[in-house]
Amino acid sequence: MSGSSLRERLAGLGAWLDSRLGLADLWEVARHKEVPVHRHTVWYYFGGMTLFLFVVQVCTGVLLLFYYRPSADEAFESVQFLMAEVQFGWLIRSIHAWAANLMIFTLFLHFFSAMMLRAYRRPREITWLSGVGLLGLALGFGFTGYLLPWNELAYFATKVGTQIVGVVPLVGRFLLRVLRGGEEVSGATLTRFYAVHVALLPAAALAILGLHLYLVQKHGMSVPPDVERTGAPVPRMRFVPNFLLRDLVGWLAALAALAALAAFFPAELGGKADPFASAPAGIKPEWYFMFTFQTLKLLPPHILGLEGEMVGVLAFGVAGLLVLLIPLFDRPAAPGEPRRLITWIGIGLILYIVVLTYLGYTESPTK
Ligand code: HEM
Repeated sequence: MSGSSLRERLAGLGAWLDSRLGLADLWEVARHKEVPVHRHTVWYYFGGMTLFLFVVQVCTGVLLLFYYRPSADEAFESVQFLMAEVQFGWLIRSIHAWAANLMIFTLFLHFFSAMMLRAYRRPREITWLSGVGLLGLALGFGFTGYLLPWNELAYFATKVGTQIVGVVPLVGRFLLRVLRGGEEVSGATLTRFYAVHVALLPAAALAILGLHLYLVQKHGMSVPPDVERTGAPVPRMRFVPNFLLRDLVGWLAALAALAALAAFFPAELGGKADPFASAPAGIKPEWYFMFTFQTLKLLPPHILGLEGEMVGVLAFGVAGLLVLLIPLFDRPAAPGEPRRLITWIGIGLILYIVVLTYLGYTESPTK
């Protein structure tokens, strides 16, 4: 086959794919996408960073599935085998564990920056709602994934975590039984958490993420009110290649950080879960649940005649709902008038999370 005929054939294949997939339309969209450049532009990188880490989670998670066995008899042993016998098994598991933590960290940064920069305002209300949904799903991934190695620490942390769900008024007992697959944390809980972790949550995350990214594309990136208020024209950077190449630098740095963390601090396993053993000292949730756990611990046993823990759980529910509804009650101020309430709420929330997390790690974390 001559070189030119190969080139012609490739060009023909390209034209055929384009006519079937509409690649040229996609390219047009990417070519016209622009990102505003101002003093808060750095915050635009964290959504992309979270997306990158999510992709790492999907890839490493699928690899883990090749060896993982979701039953109380075999889960711990299958992870032990993966860590000790499978080539690079320890690396894949450690990257999955570290990337989960990094993803939730960058997700918190993305969430708080969208809040502080008022990116949820018209017409981006649904972008915000879908984002809160993704935050809930990410926490769900963390909670269900923690149990899967079926080790001692995970077993008791799940016991405490599901117990907290049990104090929700009216539906608490029901929710607890649905989550645990019975009254106690058992092999049935592991099977459920596995189904939720590898099927339900990924399906929901992909659907909501698709909506989120579509809306980001449709509305473009917002310009924060304090930049808009200056009245000066806002310069723009082309997404392809300028912004995307900067994104790539961040993703490569994240990959290097993940490799280093996984190599120097590989994920631990500890001992196998034993439902009949007493809870070991030092049971603590993942860091991103620590502030809720610590809050419940510090509450008095009774508040206004109600169980203290129940009041705490209800308060977190109401706070979550208010966060979801921020776009409805934060209306833009009159032109030229700065509005600081949401900024103060954001700063208050960050301080609350940091202080309670610190207390959680420095005080005895067992309950
Ligand atoms: C798996 C989770 C998430 C992923 C992968 C993701 C991804 C992205 C990406 C790639 C962008 C465009 C670039 C950027 O603004 O950083 C974006 C924008 C946005 N995201 Fe997210 N996001 C997630 C969760 C969230 C959460 C938890 C919220 C808030 C509740 C949120 C709210 C927004 C908003 C309002 C925008 C538009 C920003 C603007 O126009 O200035 N997202 N997201």
